Amino acid sequence: FPLQSLNTFGIAARARHYLRVTDGAQLAAACADPALAALPRLVLGGGSNLLFTRDFDGLVLHMALAGRAIVGQLDGATLVRAQAGENWHGFVQWTLAQGLGGLENLSLIPGTVGAAPIQNIGAYGAEIKDVFHSLTAFDMASGELRTLGAAECRFGYRDSLFKHPEGARLVVLDVTFALPRDWQPNVRYAELAQALIEAGIGAPTPRQVSDAVVAIRQRKLPDPAVIGNAGSFFKNPVVSGEQCERLLAAFPDLVHHRQPDGSEKLAAGWLIDRCGWKGRSMGAAGVYPKQALVLVNNGGARGEDVVQLARAIQADVAQRYGVQLEPEPVFI
Ligand code: EPU
Repeated sequence: FPLQSLNTFGIAARARHYLRVTDGAQLAAACADPALAALPRLVLGGGSNLLFTRDFDGLVLHMALAGRAIVGQLDGATLVRAQAGENWHGFVQWTLAQGLGGLENLSLIPGTVGAAPIQNIGAYGAEIKDVFHSLTAFDMASGELRTLGAAECRFGYRDSLFKHPEGARLVVLDVTFALPRDWQPNVRYAELAQALIEAGIGAPTPRQVSDAVVAIRQRKLPDPAVIGNAGSFFKNPVVSGEQCERLLAAFPDLVHHRQPDGSEKLAAGWLIDRCGWKGRSMGAAGVYPKQALVLVNNGGARGEDVVQLARAIQADVAQRYGVQLEPEPVFI
């Protein structure tokens, strides 16, 4: 089964078996089928955070469950639930149309609602964990449905239970968010605050914050429908305070953000940029000219081309800064 149109990198990989899942019962039936149960499985949402380096010799479960609704009120918040296959940005826009703020900083992130908790998607000073209420997951090992709250999901920076072996058997079916009724804009991210000031907006509405985020993203990030990519290709590395001090002595303009525990988060895009990689290509894989953290498929790239480019970048950054960059997308 061809997967090229099901991954935003546009890699021409294939799967042995493919199932489009439109309800939970279908998933249960597939997992109970002895012929399918033995196969390796890959749960696929929007395909916007993975890199195929080879064909997938197993069963692709393409999550296409649809639906979104306001499901209740709780402690000053409105509970909204969306099914796993809903497009993330479409869902964000829908909440705004209901007059609900809380997700606007996460506008235009590619992918699906079901994939959002897997890496705790985040941008412009927000992460979904900030307004996450709970999710329903299907346990492929036991065949049971489970409800998980935020603590059980173990959210971290671009991380959650679902990225670890203990969570690998869980398939997200729907996600519920608690959106505060006394909404306040989150403009902690300097670039977002600046954009609103420049637009002359003093007290923005959720819609205005969303519009500003969309404009920034469109300026800096390639549209996967036009240029294949998976967003940030590396996580922003976290180093100790001491290591950051040493780096600052050698590179005074190093971009760094202090974390609550005293460690420092560095900007991988800055490190890659300063190594001279911005806009460069290796074969059909390249570094996006407007944001060095994004690797792109310039047309016809194989997963291996992207991997080779990523390795060359990692080697340069490690040599110059002594920092090991960790890929963000999942490698298949
Ligand atoms: N920078 C450069 N050169 C570059 C890119 C960045 O010097 O080519 C510098 C910028 O000037 C800035 C700093 O690096 O001082 C950070 O750049 P930016 O604000 O663009 O954000 P980022 O740290 O590169 C992260 C997320 C993005 C998210 C933005 C906004 C990660 C791995 N990436 O990028 O997430 O949209 O912040 O919050 O945390 C994604 O995960 O796919 C993604 C796009």
